[in-house]
Amino acid sequence: MPKEKPLFYDHRSMLKERVGVAGVRSIDLVRLSKRLEKAQAKLKLAAADGSVGWLTVPERRADCREVKSLARKMSAGLKTLVVIGIGGSDLGAKTLVRALKPASRGLDVRFVGSNTDPEEIADLLRTVDLKTALLNVVSKSGGTIEPMSTFLLLRDRLMRRVGRKSHARQVVATTDRTSGVLRTIADREGYATLPVPDDVGGRFSVLTPVGLFPAACAGIAVDGLLRGAVEVRDSFLSTSVGRNDALNFAGLHYLGYARRGQRITVLMPYAARLDLLSSWFRQLWGESLGKEINVDGRIVGHGLTPVAALGATDQHSQIQLYNEGPFDKMITFIEVGRMREDFSLPNPFPDLEGVSYLAGKSFGEILRAERRATAMALEDNGRPNGVLHIPEISPETVGGLMTFLMLSTAVMAELLDVNAYNQPGVEKGKRIISALLGRKGFKL
Ligand code: PA5
Repeated sequence: MPKEKPLFYDHRSMLKERVGVAGVRSIDLVRLSKRLEKAQAKLKLAAADGSVGWLTVPERRADCREVKSLARKMSAGLKTLVVIGIGGSDLGAKTLVRALKPASRGLDVRFVGSNTDPEEIADLLRTVDLKTALLNVVSKSGGTIEPMSTFLLLRDRLMRRVGRKSHARQVVATTDRTSGVLRTIADREGYATLPVPDDVGGRFSVLTPVGLFPAACAGIAVDGLLRGAVEVRDSFLSTSVGRNDALNFAGLHYLGYARRGQRITVLMPYAARLDLLSSWFRQLWGESLGKEINVDGRIVGHGLTPVAALGATDQHSQIQLYNEGPFDKMITFIEVGRMREDFSLPNPFPDLEGVSYLAGKSFGEILRAERRATAMALEDNGRPNGVLHIPEISPETVGGLMTFLMLSTAVMAELLDVNAYNQPGVEKGKRIISALLGRKGFKL
């Protein structure tokens, strides 16, 4: 049997030929070829010379080996992994665990520290016995208030439960190799540590120890994630414009945004286990592309607002707006070819057409029909939409899907001429919080 592609993008309903005036003209996509080629060439060069860290992360086998061996060693005898992080330091891991955690393997995983809401922390403390928990505090800078304040509290509770001396055996700090207060604390307390590579920004760090350690503790095959990532990246680097899915994805979103004012990007997986992928994408797309100035320092005020939706759930919430509201959106569905588990429906009421038409159908079949129906209705209403197809939800396809979205984001940044890898708007807020809370050296 020929090997299945881990992913392909069907963009036909993004085009004017299919959806009318709100769609992109094929000729405009062809005319964008030179710029797309240039963006691809730049990423190819960066992958070869290592100047954009996340592109070469899957080749850093030593990091992956360290992650797997530490996960094995540190989770022995424990029940729960508590990941303490925020933004790029937890959304990727959350996505992986939600999509891929096997029911019968690995630690239970809980996430906390992306909010300083004491009721959420109280809920965690009520439901997790810290005696059998491993804390993984994740912060690249090592100083972010939400995870660090949460860590200080949980560390204190852990010490009360297992003793000052023993607590260090139940903490892993994922942080910068040399700098930041978390690094200082980890060295002082003798915690096991994992590196956040200094050339990889938070929202692009899912395939570094930031995402891989929680995934490995959860029983997920991390090698599969990296294999899928490499396959999609290499296919992107070697496939010419026109047939290159990530270039098409970025090109179409750029044209919809720049020529038709479509400033909203909706990601709508038809799979409950992929719901958090949309939250991860929301940060990636929003924080990478939402920039006041371009790379030359000129004020441009760019950005496409990412919206996280879920099929079929949001058919009964958002779809009315998408079908009939303003023409300001481009929608991308994710369709899964086959579900890992499925059920065929019984036929208890053969005389009642209202339910008997479902007899013998599987849920996967119904979900795919719902996705198609939504796309057909949108197309009929002239609304641009596309589909990312994956054959199933597996480490390979999820690693590939996340890489596809990171590549598309990087290409989109090239087209918009903005720096995908900084976040001055986030840093500004962090500085103001420090000043408000009286940190020395920070003034309002
Ligand atoms: O993408 C980013 O860089 C940010 O979202 C960071 O991940 C987030 O602010 C958390 O930062 P840190 O890992 O330094 O705690």
